Amino acid sequence: MESIGAALPAGNLGAGSRFSANDQIQFALIGAGGMGMGDARMALSIPGNRLVAVADVYNGRLTRARELWGKDLFVTRDYREILVRSDVDAVIIATPDHWHARQAIDALEAGKHVYCEKPMVQKLEQGKAVIAAQQRTGRILQVGSQYVTSIIYQKARELVRAGAIGELNMVEAWLDRNTALGAWQYSVPPDATPENIDWDRFLGDAPKRPFEPVRLFRWRNYRDYGTGIGGDLFVHLISGLHVVTGALGPSRVFATGGLRYWKDGRDVPDVMLALLDYPGFNVALRVNFKSSVAQEQFGFRFVGSEGIIQTGPSVVLTKPPRESEPGYTISTFPRAIQEQFLSEYRKKYPQLPPSPERMRSEQETRFVPPQGYDAHVEHHRVFWGALREQKPVVEDAVFGFRAAGPALLANISYFENRVCRWDPEAMQEVA
Ligand SMILES: NC(=O)c1ccc[n+]([C@@H]2O[C@H](COP(=O)([O-])OP(=O)(O)OC[C@H]3O[C@@H](n4cnc5c(N)ncnc54)[C@H](O)[C@@H]3O)[C@@H](O)[C@H]2O)c1
Repeated sequence: MESIGAALPAGNLGAGSRFSANDQIQFALIGAGGMGMGDARMALSIPGNRLVAVADVYNGRLTRARELWGKDLFVTRDYREILVRSDVDAVIIATPDHWHARQAIDALEAGKHVYCEKPMVQKLEQGKAVIAAQQRTGRILQVGSQYVTSIIYQKARELVRAGAIGELNMVEAWLDRNTALGAWQYSVPPDATPENIDWDRFLGDAPKRPFEPVRLFRWRNYRDYGTGIGGDLFVHLISGLHVVTGALGPSRVFATGGLRYWKDGRDVPDVMLALLDYPGFNVALRVNFKSSVAQEQFGFRFVGSEGIIQTGPSVVLTKPPRESEPGYTISTFPRAIQEQFLSEYRKKYPQLPPSPERMRSEQETRFVPPQGYDAHVEHHRVFWGALREQKPVVEDAVFGFRAAGPALLANISYFENRVCRWDPEAMQEVA
């Protein structure tokens, strides 16, 4: 991967420099689409942050950025013009996945702190280069899987650590969708012309091809630019899994699936299932883009020897009843033996078993986040707070690659029809 970093002058932040509580942190946005604009809004909700520049390859989004954030905003189609600016301390990278590694490395080398959307990299071989750039430059890099900061996962982690479900033996995680937007059929604007779009800059290192705006506005549907369900969505599940369990990654990954419904020219599946072997437990991941659900559903079940934690909008801890009823084979014993058995059993467990409803309410503990809680805002608070305090973040480049690696291996497994092996410590595929 080519990097332009070395040719760029350093940014305005010297190593070890700090922002005081009153200092402004000036940032730029690279990739002003759906998530980029959302990230910029989150960053701007934090006092002391100021957006000074925006880069995007589509003019419409630069115009929109000025409509939203003022005519003085510096806008460009070439993100490198942002990196040479001394008034930019940090950048948010929210471009299609095939640009993440290169732009993150260029930004770090230019002295900028980086908030990089997930997945941190599009290809396995890019992971270590981003980690090295982060470590070499000493700048802060946080990957944008906001659920990593979520109090839902923090609560689940606390419960797992406290032994609330005993020994973890299996984790299931899923994301079910049902709509065209959920399946990445995003809008293509009527002014998507070669004049309004810097097509070659969108393509970057991807294979050269003639102008075809659907590939820009629905880039997720093409392997040249996106990372399919693996990198786009499994990565969220794997990030959450690593936060809750503290695991570094799986040793084996197998995925299957297919293009079942959204046959719109995409070259990635819309149903995907993956099995991952973690030390001490197994993981099953599932995403379906045509799953007949009324609303998107997203959750985890952490299954242990003593109970289950289910996460979604809240965290539910369920403990099984301690005593068990006499087994179903009791009616096969002679009548006298049955009576003897039941009488001894009742001495041991004098109470009748509770009704299923009572059992549910007695054995379930629910943790609900405060109203209005937003993990995305929190994730930004962590990043911008870390810049002010010069302290490390949880979802740094190493964490980001430990999540992206197995997610990308799920794609490799699917497309190459093989089981993949992974060394989570060394962060590399094993032959
Ligand atoms: N954390 C989350 O929950 C979450 C949610 C959605 C998207 N994302 C991530 O955010 C990133 C962007 O996704 P999106 O949904 O906003 O896509 P999008 O298509 O809406 O936005 C991408 C933008 O990048 C621009 N772009 C393309 N190449 C560029 C380049 N070389 N330089 C500058 N701009 C360029 C495009 O014109 C577009 O405006 C992806 O990596 C995606 O995985 C994360």
